[in-house]
Amino acid sequence: MTQAAVETRNLTRRFGALTAVRQLTLRIEEGEVFGLLGPNGSGKTTTIRMLCGLLEPSEGRATVAGIDVTAAPEQVKQRIGYMAQKVGLYEDLTTAENLDFYAGIYGLRGAAKQGRLAQVAAFLDLGERLGQLAGELSGGWKQRLALACALIHEPALLFLDEPTAGVDPAARRRFWRTIHALAQAGTTVLVTTHYMEEAEQCGRLAMMSRGHLIALGSPAEVAAQVGGRTLEDAFVILQERDER
Ligand SMILES: Nc1ncnc2c1ncn2[C@@H]1O[C@H](COP(=O)(O)OP(=O)(O)OP(=O)(O)O)[C@@H](O)[C@H]1O
Ligand SMILES: [Mg+2]
Repeated sequence: MTQAAVETRNLTRRFGALTAVRQLTLRIEEGEVFGLLGPNGSGKTTTIRMLCGLLEPSEGRATVAGIDVTAAPEQVKQRIGYMAQKVGLYEDLTTAENLDFYAGIYGLRGAAKQGRLAQVAAFLDLGERLGQLAGELSGGWKQRLALACALIHEPALLFLDEPTAGVDPAARRRFWRTIHALAQAGTTVLVTTHYMEEAEQCGRLAMMSRGHLIALGSPAEVAAQVGGRTLEDAFVILQERDER
């Protein structure tokens, strides 16, 4: 069997008495667009942060690109791009300066850096915004710049935590075209979203509820496993269950 892009076994994270992620066992193949769904507080961000090597698991294990996240979190960070739920841009730097800063973090220098900056700016069509302060960009442009920053070191995996929250429909569609293009080129994408039309675009999904993995498969399979006709039904069923 080929190496999984992401593999977890009984991955668990507790915060005091609360278990945010419970015994998560999951395998994601290279080049998949994999969606992580679930109501607020179900453990999606906590899962992603463990996979990024930013948060230590309480129990269980995870490998990303074959690297153990607990043993070698710094090595994991070199292989992944992460777009956090709260976008990590420097608002008092321009678009170009943000890109340059992230390129520096990943050790890009000189001509290689300049080449990559130009490539990413062209890929995300940032050319006309390069001189603008990040803090003055609209929400859609901020997301696009954040994606560019996450891509600067050509990561094998992309972790996107609600990357299109608050972005208009046209910009979201464009964003998803970019995601599919990246996956076509071999990048593995793990994405969380509360938009069902976006979830439908994932090859496979995992549905979480209160830290548990409760359904896994294609969008239609996940909806059926939760007991809904559509993904939206499944979501409503879960939310009502959580409120009880
Ligand atoms: N650093 C922390 N300390 C204590 N509790 C935390 C911490 N981070 C997350 N939690 C708790 O863990 C649970 C899961 O949170 P998480 O952010 O993973 O959910 P989520 O599925 O990403 O939700 P949302 O859809 O709102 O982004 C929540 O109850 C949250 O309050
Ligand atoms: Mg979250």
